[in-house]
Amino acid sequence: MSDDRLIVALDVPNALEALKLTDAIGDAVSFYKIGLGMLTGGGLALANELKQEHGKRIFLDMKLFDIGQTVENAVRGLAQFDLDFLTVHGDPHVVRAAKEGAAGKDLKILAVTILTSLDRTDLDDSMIRAGEVPDLVVERAARAFEAGADGVIASPNEAARIRALPEAEGRLIVTPGVRPYGTADDDQKRIATPASAIAAGADHIVVGRPVWRAPSPRDAALSIQQELRSPQAQRPNRG
Ligand code: C5P
Repeated sequence: MSDDRLIVALDVPNALEALKLTDAIGDAVSFYKIGLGMLTGGGLALANELKQEHGKRIFLDMKLFDIGQTVENAVRGLAQFDLDFLTVHGDPHVVRAAKEGAAGKDLKILAVTILTSLDRTDLDDSMIRAGEVPDLVVERAARAFEAGADGVIASPNEAARIRALPEAEGRLIVTPGVRPYGTADDDQKRIATPASAIAAGADHIVVGRPVWRAPSPRDAALSIQQELRSPQAQRPNRG
C-alpha cells in the first residue's frame, strides 16, 4: 500500500472520469478526496466503489455548515458510508454537532479554519472580526480542537503554528495548497512543497491539479511519494 499521507483530490466532472483516473494511478495513491463538485456526478457511489472494490481511503470534502441538528443528521447519514475523513466548517457548534453525528463510527471530523482562497478583504466583506488571517486561522483551529475536531484543514503556512498548539496534541493537520517544484501554482496563492508541508507539521497533504492534470497522473503521484520519503519531509517529533 502506498503512503497515505498523500491525498489526491478527484476534482474531475464525474465518477466515470474519476474511476478512469484512479485506474491509471493504480497503487501509487491510497487516499482520495471527493468534493462537492462530484456530488451530482455520482460522488457517494464513487466513494463506496473506491473503498469497497479498490481498498482506498476516502476523504469526503463537504464543508458542512448549518444549525447543529441539521449538521448532526447529515453527518449521521454520511457516516453510514464507509468514509475516513469528512469536513465541516470549524465553528464550534458545527464541530460538536458533527461529532455527535459521527458517534460510534470510525469517521474523522476535520474542521475548515478559513478557506485558503479568502484574504482579509473577503473577511471584511463577510464581517469577520479584525486580525491577520494567519492569526485567525490558528485561533479557529484551537477552538475547533476544543470542540472535539479530530483535525483541521489549513494552509501549509499555518501548519507549524497549529502543530505547536497544546490543543493539537494527537489531532490531524491536513493541508491543501501544495505544489511540487516545477508545477503550476494555478489559483493557489500561498503554496508549499509536499516535503515542506509535512516538515511543517501536516499529517496529510491534498494535491489535485498537479496530479490529475499531469500527462501521467501515476508518474506525478509517484514523484510526490518519492519526495515524501526524502529527509526534507521528516518531522523531528515523528522520526
Ligand atoms: O489546487 P489543487 O488542484 O491541488 O486543489 C486541491 C484541493 O485544494 C481542492 O480540491 C480544493 O479543496 C482545495 N483548494 C484550495 N484553495 C484553492 C483551490 C483549491 O484550498 N484556491
